[in-house]
Amino acid sequence: MEFNIAVLPGDGVGPEVITEALKVLQTVGEKFGHGFRLHDGLIGGVAIDTLGTALSDETLGMCKECDAVLLGAVGGSKWDDPQAKIHPEDGLLALRKELGLFANLRPVKVFPMLVDSTNLKPEVVRGVDLVVVRELTGGLYFGQPKKQWQTPEGRQAVDTLAYSEVEIERILKVGFELARNRRKKLASVDKANVLQSSRLWRQIAQEVSADYLDVELQHMLVDSCAMRLIQRPADLDVVVTENMFGDILTDEASMLAGSMGMLPSASLAGIPRGKTFGMYEPIHGSAPSRAGQNMANPIATILSAAMMLRYSFALEAEATAVENAVLAVLEQGYRTYDIMSEGKVRVGTKEMGDLIAQKVKG
Ligand code: IPM
Ligand code: MG
Repeated sequence: MEFNIAVLPGDGVGPEVITEALKVLQTVGEKFGHGFRLHDGLIGGVAIDTLGTALSDETLGMCKECDAVLLGAVGGSKWDDPQAKIHPEDGLLALRKELGLFANLRPVKVFPMLVDSTNLKPEVVRGVDLVVVRELTGGLYFGQPKKQWQTPEGRQAVDTLAYSEVEIERILKVGFELARNRRKKLASVDKANVLQSSRLWRQIAQEVSADYLDVELQHMLVDSCAMRLIQRPADLDVVVTENMFGDILTDEASMLAGSMGMLPSASLAGIPRGKTFGMYEPIHGSAPSRAGQNMANPIATILSAAMMLRYSFALEAEATAVENAVLAVLEQGYRTYDIMSEGKVRVGTKEMGDLIAQKVKG
């Protein structure tokens, strides 16, 4: 089979980790007989510098023509001035919106051999295997009005948390579908004791659950969920939530796995069934201070590529082969700096990519 992939390396460590993911994909292609046609594009700071926009029409058009998008990271202090007209992050947000990528899947799996590299007690993180389903194209990030203005009393600003029934229902369905194929537990996270949008969310969660009687639905307030995530994270299975809550909770959840450098993500344009268009990116950022030093952990991006094989190309065996290769290399004791512990072998970005590709080859 042949697949077209839009490749957007972006800023900071983005290009380095993307190179390693492509190396692994190349090996998958050779071993399983698939062709991956790569189409390069600019996004983020590098696009601002060369094209004057964080997301050009050309890049967007190219992504739309492809079967999936593989993205590195965007941003860096160079473009951080709050007064600036455009920011690298604008490119990412526009891409999510324009491609209709409303369902952001952020799995957090604690690998047994990394239990000791987290800041939490091993007995707390052992066995954690959860997925946060974050709504990605609505809520506070996109609601209107969204502006800052001058009043006689001083400056004022507003952001709007708005959700429609359609938006809430489709994201909850993604959560229920995933839960059905996992441990059949769904936590719907909201702030229904305060927010109108959350009250609607809770009603719809209740209604959608009627079609998923095999899945146990639990409503959870977002503050309580933040606590549960470090108190008894192994109890959580699928967590579904609105955009901003999901942004915050997933940074917190990433710490369970020891390093953000371990966590992949998929942003899908539909319920995952067959081949679903999506964008795949590590959840860590551009980490400018680590860029160009062959330091960054490429595993999050390699696991994101595995998610691409699974969700956009329906290549389950190939996805599993990549995931197993990552596990095997970790099992052998190889570590990048962020997950390094005593007695292990420290390797750089390239070496980690080589080791994983080699394992895929078998
Ligand atoms: C994320 C990031 C982005 C977000 C930023 C870079 C705009 O934090 O993907 O979690 O807030 O969604
Ligand atoms: Mg974030």
